[in-house]
Amino acid sequence: MSEALRIGVIGCGDIAASRHIPAIMACPDVQLAALCDADLMRAQQLAGQYQVPLVTEDYRELLQSESLDAVIICTPPWVTPHLTMESLQAGKHVLCEKPMAVDLVTAKKVQATELATGCKVQVGFTYRHGPLLETLRQWIREGRLGSPLVYRLGIFDEVWDPEGNKEHYDRIYRTMQHGSPSIHDGAHVADFLHFLTDSAVASVDAYGIRTRPEFPATNYDLSMIHYENGDIARVEIGWFLPHFPNGEFEVVGPKGIAIFDRFAQYVQLKTDKLTETVKLEEDWAASCFRIQLDKFIASIRMDTPCVPGTAEGIASLALTKQIEQGIRNNHN
Ligand SMILES: NC(=O)c1ccc[n+]([C@@H]2O[C@H](COP(=O)([O-])OP(=O)(O)OC[C@H]3O[C@@H](n4cnc5c(N)ncnc54)[C@H](O)[C@@H]3O)[C@@H](O)[C@H]2O)c1
Repeated sequence: MSEALRIGVIGCGDIAASRHIPAIMACPDVQLAALCDADLMRAQQLAGQYQVPLVTEDYRELLQSESLDAVIICTPPWVTPHLTMESLQAGKHVLCEKPMAVDLVTAKKVQATELATGCKVQVGFTYRHGPLLETLRQWIREGRLGSPLVYRLGIFDEVWDPEGNKEHYDRIYRTMQHGSPSIHDGAHVADFLHFLTDSAVASVDAYGIRTRPEFPATNYDLSMIHYENGDIARVEIGWFLPHFPNGEFEVVGPKGIAIFDRFAQYVQLKTDKLTETVKLEEDWAASCFRIQLDKFIASIRMDTPCVPGTAEGIASLALTKQIEQGIRNNHN
């Protein structure tokens, strides 16, 4: 087996600590060689836990380390694209968290930098990876549901609890200063749709409300997305609610329905003739992070393009920006 790739992590907050670093530690093909966080204590705590030799609050110091092959960037999305570009310029491959940027001009600069440097960028659309979404896509692409299709997606997260968890409230509030939940959690949803449909977006109509006037953006967005092939997606994304409605992920067609249950970890196809189910035994999120990392390593080793890469990152952001614009149009 070839030598383990040496990976650094920039941004040691929630998702790095809970998902990326455990995935790295479980993978024999990579070594966690450096950690960076602007809040040095965070990086130091993880460095102690995992015996990581280089720990710093300055990402430039980490990027100067010639022995590093790649970095995983887990910073807030208004910071991420700038660090992605500097990492590429320093000769490092990048797995960056989603969304890859919060505006399209910057996202396209990241893509241009990727092309200019020859290093690779994978975008962290983690949950498209693995057998559940791949099976769903196969059912759709084989015409098992017929056509046209209606996608019904609802994602609700980030409970509103300012007294109980002030740190979380402040973090999500700051994130909403850079766009509604459609830009942030919606990045995954837009990527699911991009992954599942075989058609371009024709038009988007969107509505959003702020459930409290002090929120910096709408926190409950409802969008209708029309595709050129006649498919329709109805997407609801909500943050900062004290209680969540049921989330859903269903695809309805003339021949049947396909359901993706993220909590019970299965996809199911029901037609008039049969019911087919694919269930995942291992933890769904952990498996998605593991496969995401494996694919990133394989692209580096085999010198093949990362998928999802910057093209998918830009497609997702283009759709969520259309949703944002649609909400603005309907507020005037
Ligand atoms: N793929 C997924 O399932 C998933 C899930 C949650 C979050 N995310 C994404 O991951 C990213 C991080 O989210 P989080 O919840 O971990 O946030 P977080 O606030 O917990 O962590 C971000 C960290 O980045 C650090 N940071 C900020 N600027 C920095 C800089 N210039 N240099 C070094 N460190 C810097 C902060 O100090 C903080 O520790 C976001 O883009 C979010 O959208 C993805």
